[in-house]
Amino acid sequence: MRLSACHNFHDFRSLAHRRLPGPIFDYIDGAADDEVTKRRNRAAFDACDLLPSVLTGVDEVDLSVTVMGERLALPVYLSPTALQRLFHHQGENATAAAAEKFGTMFGVSSLGTVSMEVLARRHKTPQVYQFYYHKDRGLNRAMMQKAKECGIRVMVLTVDSITGGNRERDLRTGFSIPFRLTLAGMLQFALKPMWGINYVTHERFSLPQLDAHIDMKGDSLTIGRYFSEMLDPSLDWDDVAEMVAEWGGPFCLKGVMRAEDARRAADIGCAGVVVSNHGGRQLDGARAGFDQLDEIVQAAGDRLDVLLDGGVTRGSHVLKALSLGAKAVGLGRYYLFPLAAAGQAGVERALALMQEEILRDMRLMGARRVADLTRANLRFR
Ligand code: LAC
Repeated sequence: MRLSACHNFHDFRSLAHRRLPGPIFDYIDGAADDEVTKRRNRAAFDACDLLPSVLTGVDEVDLSVTVMGERLALPVYLSPTALQRLFHHQGENATAAAAEKFGTMFGVSSLGTVSMEVLARRHKTPQVYQFYYHKDRGLNRAMMQKAKECGIRVMVLTVDSITGGNRERDLRTGFSIPFRLTLAGMLQFALKPMWGINYVTHERFSLPQLDAHIDMKGDSLTIGRYFSEMLDPSLDWDDVAEMVAEWGGPFCLKGVMRAEDARRAADIGCAGVVVSNHGGRQLDGARAGFDQLDEIVQAAGDRLDVLLDGGVTRGSHVLKALSLGAKAVGLGRYYLFPLAAAGQAGVERALALMQEEILRDMRLMGARRVADLTRANLRFR
């Protein structure tokens, strides 16, 4: 299958499956425990039906939105995700360039493989920094400071990853950094020599957001260990209130699932929350974000911007979330498989398809602008 034959998420996923060594594919595709929440994230959209309005005159359609003060040409953005240069040697450079081309926002992860400085220098499009709160307070302060110096406006603190999710696919393959694979994992790498050639002939793998603070030489770090050993599970509302004040700009909590937490986020001055269960990768059995969206928008949507991610693979999913009052929708695996399959060209094709789907569905819904989508456009089964 070639890139031009990819018409949706499933096609990109198949192509990535063919190109990536098994352990890397499973790291992206996998989730926690029995992966029930990951499946729920998708299924939640199917339990909700769209009700189109007709004859509204939809020759001109405006897809732009404003999120935490940032104007985006599309109501979707590329969520911060870790380790992108492992998936494709262009990594975050490709993601940022594609986001810029489509006029939308991208996130840089604490576990990113290109530095926030380099990305901020090269790309004018809005960039958010995704922050993990470490036990090492020096590291926390240094990351905040660097983000400020880079001119990043929006800080996003992930609050659902206070300890590592139980990713059993990774346990089976031995997925860690540097690689410390099981025998079965090693065999999977041997089967994909092209990936290996690209990996060794491009810039050496590193985690520039953390390199100065964490010595990884000779040791291997699983994502679970990173979360469990380096992040601070004592993090509470007082710590976050301090961070919000110290940051001084728009501050957003990612991983909020309850109305009262969204209210509390607004109380301490947050500009946004992302309703998210981390793609089902953390607490398996957690409810789908989409099923919590209405409640959270009702509780705090007038005081902060409510965003959603998890299981979004279609323009119609985006329209459903916008109809419930989400200000924008985050994409994760939706752009990671195309990235793995074809680098920047892959992410651009995925975004082009998403843009077309949203535009077509807006017309079919009779909506000329995002604000035309309301709760009246939905029925739940
Ligand atoms: C993950 C983290 C790193 O889900 O966000 O793997």
